[in-house]
Amino acid sequence: MRHDAKKISVLGLGAMGTAFARAWLDAGYGVTVWNRTVGRAEALVGEGAEVAATATEAVRASGLVVVCLLDDASVGEVLADTELVGVDLVNVTTSTPGQARERAAWAGARGARYLDGGIMAVPPMIGTPDSGAYVFYSGSPELFAAHRDGLAVPAAARYVGEEPGSAALHDVALLSAMTGMFAGVTHAFALMRGAGAEVAPKEFAGLLVEWLAAMAPAAYGVAAQLETGDYTLGVTSNLAMMVEGNGTLLRTAEEQGVSPELLAPFMALMERLLAAGHGDEGTTGVIDLLRR
Ligand SMILES: NC(=O)c1ccc[n+]([C@@H]2O[C@H](COP(=O)([O-])OP(=O)(O)OC[C@H]3O[C@@H](n4cnc5c(N)ncnc54)[C@H](OP(=O)(O)O)[C@@H]3O)[C@@H](O)[C@H]2O)c1
Repeated sequence: MRHDAKKISVLGLGAMGTAFARAWLDAGYGVTVWNRTVGRAEALVGEGAEVAATATEAVRASGLVVVCLLDDASVGEVLADTELVGVDLVNVTTSTPGQARERAAWAGARGARYLDGGIMAVPPMIGTPDSGAYVFYSGSPELFAAHRDGLAVPAAARYVGEEPGSAALHDVALLSAMTGMFAGVTHAFALMRGAGAEVAPKEFAGLLVEWLAAMAPAAYGVAAQLETGDYTLGVTSNLAMMVEGNGTLLRTAEEQGVSPELLAPFMALMERLLAAGHGDEGTTGVIDLLRR
């Protein structure tokens, strides 16, 4: 059976699934929704969504089925008894690359085309033009080509290859970088809560954002070194100098009564790299130390 391209089923009406469903409703799509806790569908019904009584019914209702649940285990549970032959299944539930690959094989064995997604946004950014929201997609190129317009409604769609784990890997790599950034921001605020800090948190936040934005393009320098294999390429702040500087960072933390535990792991790796004779490089060599 061929379905209407403007019909989409959304399984999972948490904060994110609800935002996706609402964006499609607002864009004039026919949306069928299903959620384990039935009450969470109420608001969307008022906005024109159809409610399916079961996950099976929701999957049957549309050719494009979007799953946005808590984790991979809940996806397995919800879809366990559904008929997936001929279904285009898009799973935007956050998962690991390995889980995404297994889920793709699982869906393929049940006769579905499969696309895995990694959402780079928070719910209020979904369906909001110019919010910067996007979703990494990987998996079936045919599915992506067939539904690219619909997929681009809630957030911009970035296809990152046929390998199903690729979207999750991109997603988690960016989230990991963000985690490191949050650690740095946390430490900086902790320092500024100590003696001698007269700047208001809001004012300091402005300085932080400006500084982090100025430093972020350093990622291009790392990329150039990885691509050439020359870790001294374009180095302006060498490791020997940075390790020396770490001493100042640590002494300041001590003076301000702040634990160095967020900084210490990265500094220890920098010291190991220096001890191995890489003082004229930057920190790119830490990547090789991390890879087991
Ligand atoms: N929120 C964000 O900022 C954000 C950003 C990027 C990516 N994501 C990803 O988007 C996905 C959904 O996040 P969310 O914010 O919408 O989470 P949420 O508000 O906690 O909603 C979780 C959803 O999963 C359902 N669920 C959980 N376990 C289930 C099970 N065993 N069987 C059936 N349904 C189950 C819940 O149903 P009930 O209503 O019945 O509990 C609910 O619909 C997650 O993978 C998350 O990592 C979220």
